[in-house]
Amino acid sequence: MLNHLVSYAAICSILWIGSMHAQYACDIVKFKYGSVCRCTEDYCDTIAPLGTIPTSQAALYESTSELAGTHRLTRLTNLEFQSQMNPNISSLLRINYTAKYQTILGFGGAFTDASGIVARQISDKLQSKLLSQYFGEGGISYNIGRIPMVGCDFSTYSYTYDAVPNDFELNDFSISMDLPIKIPFIKSAIAMSRGVSHTAEPPQQPIFQ
Ligand SMILES: *[C@@H]1O[C@H](CO)[C@@H](O)[C@H](O)[C@H]1NC(C)=O
Ligand SMILES: *[C@@H]1O[C@H](CO)[C@@H](O)[C@H](O)[C@H]1NC(C)=O
Repeated sequence: MLNHLVSYAAICSILWIGSMHAQYACDIVKFKYGSVCRCTEDYCDTIAPLGTIPTSQAALYESTSELAGTHRLTRLTNLEFQSQMNPNISSLLRINYTAKYQTILGFGGAFTDASGIVARQISDKLQSKLLSQYFGEGGISYNIGRIPMVGCDFSTYSYTYDAVPNDFELNDFSISMDLPIKIPFIKSAIAMSRGVSHTAEPPQQPIFQ
């Protein structure tokens, strides 16, 4: 999750999108090579949630542009699907309803030791704001979390859940390393999201395997 940068160029007007939810504008901070949206314990910008849209329409979100105002992602007017070709438009998205390919389960990020260790250095309230930027409805609504079981290349050291040779009874099995770092963030993400699926992947196996 933290492996993504929460920084987007932005410009200067506050947009209210029709009757949709208001977005909280970016508190823009400019640096030499770009700008970021500043989040504090008391304030963080948000993205207008998707809500329900008619099946004949598609929602349109735009990142950084002249129209983006002070939002990182701005919701523009819905697109309307049309069965007839309009000769006036310059770009065309043709949808074939009968041709179906793979199902998209969603989008997400990884709960690594590295992201947890970094995030724990800020206050609890700010951690919650940070997580909601990814998994909350006012954020980008991630719905998938990847969990490295045991240590991975984003850990500070190599570990497994059972490092005792020949412990086939798993008497020394323990997830104690994950209790302070990964698990609290996973629980918070579940609580603040509309539903997160998790995939658990074992980058390292017990040494006796
Ligand atoms: C295309 O543009 C012309 C000129 O503005 C307009 O008269 C016409 O109705 C438009 N066609 C469609 C399908 O919107
Ligand atoms: C739409 O997809 C179906 C199934 O793949 C195909 O048979 C058909 O030719 C496609 N129609 C168009 C207009 O491309």
